[in-house]
Amino acid sequence: MFYGLSKFLKQLLPKQLFYRSLLIVALPIIILQITISVVFFDSLWIKTNIGMTRALVGEIKTFIDSYNQEGSDKNFVENTFEEHLEIDVVYFQNKQFSDLMNEKWYSPIDRALRRELKSKNLEYWFDTSKFRHTVNLKIKNEGDYFEFFIPRERLTSTSVRIFALWITLPAILIIAIAIIFLKNQTRPIKKLAEASKKFGRGENIEEFVPSGASEIRQAGFEFEKMRKRILRHLNQRSEMLSGISHDLRTPLTRMKLQLALIKDKNLIERFSNDIDEMEKMLNEYLQFSSESNKEQTEEFEFNELIENIIFKFNNNIIKFNKGEIFIFNGRKLLIQRCLNNLIENSTKFANKIEVSFQKLKSNILIIIEDNGPGIPINERENVFKPFYKIDKSRSEKSSSVGLGLSISSDIIRSHGGKIELSESNLGGLKIVISLPF
Ligand SMILES: Nc1ncnc2c1ncn2[C@@H]1O[C@H](COP(=O)(O)OP(=O)(O)OP(=O)(O)O)[C@@H](O)[C@H]1O
Ligand SMILES: [Mg+2]
Repeated sequence: MFYGLSKFLKQLLPKQLFYRSLLIVALPIIILQITISVVFFDSLWIKTNIGMTRALVGEIKTFIDSYNQEGSDKNFVENTFEEHLEIDVVYFQNKQFSDLMNEKWYSPIDRALRRELKSKNLEYWFDTSKFRHTVNLKIKNEGDYFEFFIPRERLTSTSVRIFALWITLPAILIIAIAIIFLKNQTRPIKKLAEASKKFGRGENIEEFVPSGASEIRQAGFEFEKMRKRILRHLNQRSEMLSGISHDLRTPLTRMKLQLALIKDKNLIERFSNDIDEMEKMLNEYLQFSSESNKEQTEEFEFNELIENIIFKFNNNIIKFNKGEIFIFNGRKLLIQRCLNNLIENSTKFANKIEVSFQKLKSNILIIIEDNGPGIPINERENVFKPFYKIDKSRSEKSSSVGLGLSISSDIIRSHGGKIELSESNLGGLKIVISLPF
């Protein structure tokens, strides 16, 4: 049961750090406010009102009794009453007031007045809201009646509004200050999350400047250190590889020249084929590494990119299932190269290819399916290795080097995505690429 309750509470609570912290600050203030208001309203304000009303009704009753006393000087009684108690009285002889009264059951002033008047057995009529500062009260006196105009402050303490204002205003002020402070506290965390997300997706980010509280600053500082280390590591590796590839071209060219000295024609052909293949491997790799080093991220529409790639193949065996228009921020040339490699592979093995694009909640899917021979399960990991070809004879004619899939997966991973191979309904290979955005 407690598990259910805590789950329910979790759903109810805000998800964002800013709103959670705000709740932690604001909730106690609001609870305190309500408690103080209720206590003040109930025990102080209402009780004071009742006391004041009782005293007032007592005075009025004394006045009426003195007025009705036989032989009393009615004028004198009325004048003293008016003068010392600041209550205006008018006496209506041989007149009755209507019994219809606008009773407000929710008003504590009305309730107290009604109770006190009843306890003194008076027949009354009153209206507390007709005038702003005055309460109008009529009391029957046999065939006649009195009309009183009583200052409102005789019945109730007017400090209630000021009190409410004085406890609400500071609370609002405190919450406003808390909002400003909390916004400033959560901004650096958001900034860090944003930078990590971008870095994870392979986007270029400028130097991250840590800010905020010391813990957050420390996290930002460590992030920046880690980012630099990773970048250095990546650069070092690719620089080394491209250095080796580059340097290998010279001995290759030398070997080509030396071939001319060999007499055996057959041998020359076999040698030069091998040398050509090695050259192709090196060129392919060099081209890729120079592209991936240079390219900056840019925005492009994904459907359009795929359409353009398919268009270049200039055949009608590729079907494209378009998705929702989507602007992606990434390294366009590299993604183009990746999709090109994959579609090109399919065109080598199949005569029916289907490419689909789908936008999901936080990532996009590109699915490439064909009706070729597919890739057996035990080879699905190997084909991503550089220079790996399943079966030499399978792609001998097209003189491939076996770098396509390895480059493609490298590109997808550098964008924080993943690439998976499986079996297609068309009978061949199904490639699912998922890229986060
Ligand atoms: N759509 C496919 N259907 C069947 N087999 C495939 C498919 N795509 C790739 N393969 C197999 O995976 C191997 C690796 O593919 P990869 O693209 O890495 O190299 P490649 O196409 O042989 O050479 P490159 O692309 O560098 O010219 C290929 O040799 C091929 O046997
Ligand atoms: Mg290929």
